[in-house]
Amino acid sequence: MKQQAKPFVKWAGGKAQILDEIRAKYPTDFGGRVNKYAEPFVGGGAVLFDVLNRFDLSAVYISDVNRELITTYKTARDSVDTLISILDEIEREYLPSDDDIRKKIYYAKRERFNHLKAKNDETPEVAALFVFLNRTCFNGLYRVNAKGGYNVPQGSYKNPCICDEDNLRAVSEKLRGVEIVHGDYKLARDFIDERTFAYFDPPYRPLTATASFTTYAPDGFGDKEQTDLARFIDEMSERGAWVVASNSDPKNTDENDDFFDKLYAKHAVLRIEANRAINSVGNGRGRVSELLIARA
Ligand SMILES: C[S@@+](CC[C@H](N)C(=O)[O-])C[C@H]1O[C@@H](n2cnc3c(N)ncnc32)[C@H](O)[C@@H]1O
Repeated sequence: MKQQAKPFVKWAGGKAQILDEIRAKYPTDFGGRVNKYAEPFVGGGAVLFDVLNRFDLSAVYISDVNRELITTYKTARDSVDTLISILDEIEREYLPSDDDIRKKIYYAKRERFNHLKAKNDETPEVAALFVFLNRTCFNGLYRVNAKGGYNVPQGSYKNPCICDEDNLRAVSEKLRGVEIVHGDYKLARDFIDERTFAYFDPPYRPLTATASFTTYAPDGFGDKEQTDLARFIDEMSERGAWVVASNSDPKNTDENDDFFDKLYAKHAVLRIEANRAINSVGNGRGRVSELLIARA
């Protein structure tokens, strides 16, 4: 049996651990009458790859505002050999080196990535650097400074997997024919119809003013954006699409905060448990409730 494709980047808010609960909300006739899939906030794509591994679909659409992430998806789809050969070269240089040399390599690659990023470069080189930094940086974070420069420090992994050739090939095959778009979620409007399952995993609403969950990309995603998204989801649902969305549960820190219960009044708002690093809840990691918004 061929290898299943799995996410090729670690991403904040990754959905791997709550996949079973999300699967339970897939359309009952998925792969049949519902034969299109859209994931407008794709990130690491845990749900995307689950869907691609399990169903044969007539059309698939993904997008994200992170240009370099989208360049990496496109490169994995269209130029996987080049991506693998650059990553393989970087891996051969990085892994045998001692800590001092590794540090020099990491920061030199980060600088090169930022140089290319500033020019909106979309070549396989920027994609390979994106994967390298994701695999070797602190906690697989993606964070940029005010000028848009990626500024995550080096992580301390002893033996990071930089070039996962088998998975990249499986990913490339699964992405064949997938429409990959750099831009806002609203660009999915023309794609989504009554035959579409659309999964929305936006930046989570911060649980407190200090928990900054909304900084994967320069554009903030505040309460106004959450409200606009809810109206967009209503619109897609009214046109017959099968919609599912995730978000944080404000009731973790304020049991009277029913922001999402009101916003998604036309849908079922389910509470599920996840294990997350959330600073405002106790200290460090803990089990917190998250929201899954699905058909009523
Ligand atoms: C919670 S993460 C998605 C996590 C993903 N489901 C996973 O399993 O890894 C949210 C993503 O939305 C993207 N994003 C933020 N604002 C956006 C917008 N207006 N339109 C599309 N994507 C956006 C971010 O770059 C980020 O990758």
